[in-house]
Amino acid sequence: MANNSILNKARYTENTDEWYTDYATVESEISHYSEQFQGKVVLCNCDDPYKSAFTTYFLKNFNTLKLKKLICTSYKGSRIVAQSTIVDDNYSPLVDNAAYVMVVEQFPNIEEVLLHGDSITDLINKLKVVKKLKGDGDFRSEECVEYLKEADIVVTNPPFSKFIDLFSLLVKYKKQYLLIGNQNAITYKEIFPFIKSGQAWIGYRFGDMAFKVPNDTQPRKYRFWVDETGQKWRSLGNAMWLTNLDNERKHQQLVLTCKYDPEKYPKYDDFDAINVSRVLEIPSDYTGIMGVPLTYLKYHNDSQFEIIGEANHGSDNEFDLFKPRIKGKDIFKRILIRKKIK
Ligand SMILES: C[S@@+](CC[C@H](N)C(=O)[O-])C[C@H]1O[C@@H](n2cnc3c(N)ncnc32)[C@H](O)[C@@H]1O
Repeated sequence: MANNSILNKARYTENTDEWYTDYATVESEISHYSEQFQGKVVLCNCDDPYKSAFTTYFLKNFNTLKLKKLICTSYKGSRIVAQSTIVDDNYSPLVDNAAYVMVVEQFPNIEEVLLHGDSITDLINKLKVVKKLKGDGDFRSEECVEYLKEADIVVTNPPFSKFIDLFSLLVKYKKQYLLIGNQNAITYKEIFPFIKSGQAWIGYRFGDMAFKVPNDTQPRKYRFWVDETGQKWRSLGNAMWLTNLDNERKHQQLVLTCKYDPEKYPKYDDFDAINVSRVLEIPSDYTGIMGVPLTYLKYHNDSQFEIIGEANHGSDNEFDLFKPRIKGKDIFKRILIRKKIK
């Protein structure tokens, strides 16, 4: 059987590699982790100095977050054409077919910047903090890995097709991270074991997310619009933040109001576990294994439930325990959980 990760990669990454994150999306998530950024070196390694909302957010909040250093590296040849007056350390305007690194160790308070009539671009230029990279800015390249080694926390929305590569690199170098991804990544064999063992978890936003897309994106009926500036947008219903930074969400108790009833919670054909259709219907008194929708992870608190595995195809990875089926009817993939007995 074809590997699930490969299938998912092929299905979900064709068009999303050049989807750009909105500033509000970045701000609303990162603001939950402010204290954890204090004194840290932050790397945004799929982010250029002129298009990325991650870059703008960390520059604007450099002092509020008390960052030690901000490093942003860009990839050669992205498809959103820049309208920027940023120059590199040789005063050459940035071009789309080169890759750059921006290293910031001090940044004025944004209020003062605006008061003096300067823009963030003016400041970047004055500080001469952008220089050309030797290579293409691939986050896996030797020069980018050197920046990674320096970093404490990596924050970005990587191309979804390279999500596994980035995740694996962050694990290899034992980095903290806050990444935007597609929820399908949860069941990838390279990622699920970390979620199961409590080494990675979901951030706050899990579901809808809007992204700016390149001008040549074809219009479509759903999840596509053009704003008043002419910017094209697409949205994804199953986006997520994946992180290993502690957050309050993962310590909140899920309030359970339902009781187990064998009629309401049928068992799977090939596995001794009950099927729970909705997260809110998780029975408070069932102590066996339960198959719950993927959205459960948005509420997962590992002091309340343990993650036993997943039920997808029954073959994706060592924790994909069976294909969920009830009375011969296929059920959408499930996360398998069991109540923790205190
Ligand atoms: C999904 S877009 C997001 C861009 C930006 N991080 C944001 O959130 O707006 C992914 C970006 O990664 C760049 N990219 C593609 N392959 C890359 C690689 N191997 N290394 C680094 N960046 C890459 C793309 O050109 C694109 O700009």
